[in-house]
Amino acid sequence: MKVIFELSKEYNLLPADEVIYSIKGEEENYYIIEKNEDVVIVDIDERKIKRLAERIALSFFLDKFLFVCKSDLEDIKKVCKEIDVSLEKGNSFRVRCNNRIKNKDISSLEVERTVGEIFAERYKVDLKKPDFEIRVILSDNKAYAGLKLFEIDRKSFEKRKAQYRPFFSPISLHPKLARALVNISEVTENKTLLDPFCGTGGILIEAALIKAKIIGSDINGKMVEGCKKNLEYYGITNYRLFQCDIGEVSRYVNEVDAIVTDFPYGRSTSVGGENIDTLYKRGAKAICEVLKKGGKAVVGLPNEDALGILDSHLEREVVYSCRVHRSLTRYFGVYRKN
Ligand SMILES: C[S@@+](CC[C@H](N)C(=O)[O-])C[C@H]1O[C@@H](n2cnc3c(N)ncnc32)[C@H](O)[C@@H]1O
Repeated sequence: MKVIFELSKEYNLLPADEVIYSIKGEEENYYIIEKNEDVVIVDIDERKIKRLAERIALSFFLDKFLFVCKSDLEDIKKVCKEIDVSLEKGNSFRVRCNNRIKNKDISSLEVERTVGEIFAERYKVDLKKPDFEIRVILSDNKAYAGLKLFEIDRKSFEKRKAQYRPFFSPISLHPKLARALVNISEVTENKTLLDPFCGTGGILIEAALIKAKIIGSDINGKMVEGCKKNLEYYGITNYRLFQCDIGEVSRYVNEVDAIVTDFPYGRSTSVGGENIDTLYKRGAKAICEVLKKGGKAVVGLPNEDALGILDSHLEREVVYSCRVHRSLTRYFGVYRKN
């Protein structure tokens, strides 16, 4: 089935890549029809769509593809009149428009009204509880239309923010960002993800919720205890947690399919008096040793230069700069062990 993923605008390039790598983690057979900052359109096995809707964080909706045309009201009208929409679930509908045009010369309301009038000749309008929703996404030069399949449960990520967990520390990433990074790592059900600087467990929680097996470790015993509390608060009981230095994670060798981690910041977290560069170098070596061949590591560091420490060990694929809050930007390097 051809599916449109309506992307959020958070964290630059991350939303589109999150979709692609989530699919890659779940399914070998897929075809990318279009990828830009507004939408990803892919042809994928219908049975995988629900699972993708449950794991993705940085999209709003997944729609069954209907058509693409120029971002122009007359063109939209013309195509709507010509297409044959088969409705499987009933015959009432509504239209919603997601308008992403920067200088808005078409209004969402205008699009909803125009498309609504055309389909009203064939189906019944129900704005409150329709059997199906036609979605139109307006980008600067194209309009995409689809039938809504799933809405991403974005509120669930807000509810898991660090301040709502039993053990709190401000070092934790937003759950949406943590989930997107887990998805970028291509980990999936029953594969093993390691976070060797697990802190309060923000990354481990998101990985466990998509049914990955999780291993966490941290040098600070208080963090390990707190992380355990946080995991159990979300009903996660299948985990392995250890208090240990990064240098000792080689004990999991041959087990780790993916690593997602946020290295110590060197300012707000304790690094036990160690020089931060030395710690980063040890961390890079340990990560490379423990990761399985073919596996991916997604590593957060304070700047692009620092990411270079992993280059001699692993192949760097891409870097995402992510504004964590007003005074903190983190750089997440994505590496593959070849
Ligand atoms: C940026 S925090 C990770 C935050 C985590 N993602 C979370 O959700 O809370 C970095 C963690 O690295 C740990 N750490 C510092 N030095 C370490 C070392 N040598 N070995 C292992 N962990 C270390 C700190 O205790 C801290 O919890």
